Amino acid sequence: MKALNKLTAPKAVAPERIIQFGEGNFLRAFVDWIIKNMNDKTDFNSSVVVVQGTPDAFVTQLLQGQDCLYHVNLQGRLDGEVINSLTRIDVISRALSPFTQFDAFLALADQPEMRFVISNTTEAGIAFDPECKLADRPAASYPGKLTQLLYRRFKTFNGAADKGFIIMPCELIFENGHHLKDIINKYIELWKDQFDGDYEAFKAWFNESCYVCATLVDRIVPGFPRKDIKQIQEKLGYADNLVVQGEAFHLWVIERASNISIEDLRKEFPADKAGLQVLITDSEAPYHERKVTLLNGPHTVLSPVAFLSGVNIVRDACNHPVIGKYINKVQFDELMQTLNLPMDELKKFGADVLERFNNPYVDHQVTSIMLNSFPKFQTRDLPGLKTYLERKGELPKGLVLGLAALITYYKGGKREDGTEIVPNDDKKIMDLLTELWATGDTRKVAEGVLAAKDLIWGEEHGDLNQIPGLTDLVTEYLNAIQAKGMLETVKEVVEA
Ligand SMILES: NC(=O)c1ccc[n+]([C@@H]2O[C@H](COP(=O)([O-])OP(=O)(O)OC[C@H]3O[C@@H](n4cnc5c(N)ncnc54)[C@H](O)[C@@H]3O)[C@@H](O)[C@H]2O)c1
Repeated sequence: MKALNKLTAPKAVAPERIIQFGEGNFLRAFVDWIIKNMNDKTDFNSSVVVVQGTPDAFVTQLLQGQDCLYHVNLQGRLDGEVINSLTRIDVISRALSPFTQFDAFLALADQPEMRFVISNTTEAGIAFDPECKLADRPAASYPGKLTQLLYRRFKTFNGAADKGFIIMPCELIFENGHHLKDIINKYIELWKDQFDGDYEAFKAWFNESCYVCATLVDRIVPGFPRKDIKQIQEKLGYADNLVVQGEAFHLWVIERASNISIEDLRKEFPADKAGLQVLITDSEAPYHERKVTLLNGPHTVLSPVAFLSGVNIVRDACNHPVIGKYINKVQFDELMQTLNLPMDELKKFGADVLERFNNPYVDHQVTSIMLNSFPKFQTRDLPGLKTYLERKGELPKGLVLGLAALITYYKGGKREDGTEIVPNDDKKIMDLLTELWATGDTRKVAEGVLAAKDLIWGEEHGDLNQIPGLTDLVTEYLNAIQAKGMLETVKEVVEA
């Protein structure tokens, strides 16, 4: 089998315009795949310099060994079609380590065509470390390194307004760009005496001529296909050691920074012209809410309902004659009705989520979703339950049944077929549920869980027994599950 490098495979050459902090699976299967599509389908014509995120050089060395070429294997269903594609990504020009090549790292700021900084340094990466110094080679934190790079650019181009960076973090943090910008400003304050009198001008240049955009990324990327790698390499004809697997679905919502218009940002980053699901918008907040409500919300309630009905895998739950109807009810009839985006957009997203749940390549165990289910219900389903009641004047029965299923799941014990039920949550929550179930009184169980404002629901939601009718309905469903079993109870609710 051939090695993969630029002697054995064609590699496009394009100006280096993107600095990418992080060499991980997600960035390679998402951002670099997006850039590849933009280069192929528009005049974006840009290549990426990868800056290694941590001192661990393992992936950087693999990239260098393959002249930064690798394949993305997308698998799943998209618009009804089953996808299993392999795409060679050739947009990374080089990969370097700021830990061992600090001068080369800083010199990236001197390249006039550089325009974008993209990162995914995990949720831990966007952090302020007060120990970092401007003179460090490099500063330990990602925002510290970025501030070093920005200052070098400011100096090299004398604060030219057109040499600012467009910064688009991909870390899974709500309003990631806002946090990153705040932390960079904190470093500018911390290092103010070390900027040779440039403090004011540098601060103004960063805040006016650089554009820090919050973004929301959405694609499941399992990473290196350990199980299928031999087969994939044979299919490719290359000994690619950096294949990365991801689902077919992708969505990148980019919130314009406050100092740039949507039109200007679209011109700079014309992903829409490549037919990609990249949305440049005024606010990522409604999209964040949409994802949490329509993807994570149904996940949290379908899991105990499916598991207690004897169904273990998300795809099987979707295709089950009763559980499938339950998922539809919760997602389309209940949660979707509580959001504030155009209904056609919501329906398309909901249908895409169902296709993702139905992925023929991934056996997603419902038990793997049930870690810390109560806090999840609080953030993902409770806001919808309350808004639904406000808007429709009645409780959403599917969501309330999901809560009753969750409470039943935390009773533990064995399923009808003998499978152990193993709840896993904060010890105090587990102890409360054990104590409540020990009373043998379902009304007390319902009241006790709904009253747990300090432990589960928080100040914002308070005692849920105050929600009209909720205690009665949860108790009714707990009784029904005990008497008839989960599946029969769901059937009655979806067929009512
Ligand atoms: N894999 C997915 O399905 C997926 C989907 C959406 C978002 N994400 C998010 O992306 C992140 C990375 O996921 P991945 O699958 O690429 O993992 P990965 O292990 O392949 O990559 C981790 C990356 O983070 C960098 N990094 C880690 N700690 C850092 C730090 N303190 N400072 C700077 N860089 C640091 C590493 O250098 C590496 O580039 C995760 O935090 C995850 O929440 C993942």
